[in-house]
Amino acid sequence: MLGMLGGGQLGRFFVIAAHEMGYRVTVLDPDQNSPAGRIADVHLCRAYDDQAALKQLAETCAAVTTEFENVPAATLEQLAQHCTVRPGASAVAIAQHRVVEKTFFRDAGLPVGAFAVVNDKNDLPADDSPLYPAILKVARFGYDGKGQARVRTRQEALAAFARFNHETCVLEQMLPLDYEVSVVLARDAQGKVAAFPLAENSHLNGILDVSIAPARASEVIKAKAQALAIQIAEKLDYVGVLGVEFFVSEGKLLVNEMAPRPHNSGHYTIDACVTNQFEQQVRALAGLPLGDSNLHSHAVMVNILGDIWKSTEPAWDKSFAHPNLKLHLYGKHEARAGRKMGHFTVLGKDTESALNLALIARAELGIG
Ligand SMILES: Nc1ncnc2c1ncn2[C@@H]1O[C@H](COP(=O)(O)OP(=O)(O)OP(=O)(O)O)[C@@H](O)[C@H]1O
Ligand SMILES: [Mg+2]
Repeated sequence: MLGMLGGGQLGRFFVIAAHEMGYRVTVLDPDQNSPAGRIADVHLCRAYDDQAALKQLAETCAAVTTEFENVPAATLEQLAQHCTVRPGASAVAIAQHRVVEKTFFRDAGLPVGAFAVVNDKNDLPADDSPLYPAILKVARFGYDGKGQARVRTRQEALAAFARFNHETCVLEQMLPLDYEVSVVLARDAQGKVAAFPLAENSHLNGILDVSIAPARASEVIKAKAQALAIQIAEKLDYVGVLGVEFFVSEGKLLVNEMAPRPHNSGHYTIDACVTNQFEQQVRALAGLPLGDSNLHSHAVMVNILGDIWKSTEPAWDKSFAHPNLKLHLYGKHEARAGRKMGHFTVLGKDTESALNLALIARAELGIG
């Protein structure tokens, strides 16, 4: 029995992979309708700090992992006293907090964009600071562009900081982006790493929209991004699946942020790689050797958000008409604007043909 903290779509794909490999899974998630909870062998429908639920997880699971970074670090520490917990609480705690995360990257000598830590309104720089135009981001609980504001002046930054209830933030210089890429990798308990090919990502309204794998980047950028992601995993003595997001700005690679779990931009691996990111997560957690992370097709993944549910269900028949398109719906109970409801991946023998078809299929569903 393996344990999963969190019952979203990432947890659901983990349950599917674990089941195929002969494991049973207990999911802890307070939502009765959580996508992973609904297909788990045991769903503990409780809060992440519920003592009885944590006791049951510790007693019944050989190893526990997480599918989202906001699970309390104290929960992971507590579980670690009784069973294997991967990744460790300290790595998750770093990824939970933008200030700690950015400081960790900078102190490790990794390239990051210019930023300032804002604990107090006096920390907001004057208008002549080179940080403006900037993005103010709350340090905790941000995702999919939530808890972020674009600001051009100190006045605007003050207003945004007040809207964020004066919670600790980072103020990042708004970088001119050539494009964005990400690396998903798995690292096992012996320190062996299997990195997936670089994905190229584009966002719509702050949410991942399209991922292209392999990325249309130079070999130098590809090698550098993989090396940086591996460096991060090694510094953290990380065991599990790690996602690292990068900016390419004026030709330079900069680390944006990391996720201590499989990553949305790695969903293409389900259909296009020998071993997908969720099987790697199971393997790392269970102490098995990692699988082959090579790509066997060119792939383009498109996210499906709740926005396209109108009075009727989206026209899936149009998607199913494409033989190289693989649709994945997450079984969410209710569609809401901005909510990730599913994705599809188009496979092809080259990026251009896969991208052309993906954009047609995206338009057919009314995305964008
Ligand atoms: N400093 C910046 N300069 C330019 N663009 C930025 C900057 N920070 C963020 N963005 C844009 O906003 C997107 C979301 O930002 P970020 O990754 O920090 O947020 P997030 O809420 O954690 O998102 P997610 O959970 O989807 O990764 C980035 O992928 C990028 O497109
Ligand atoms: Mg991000």
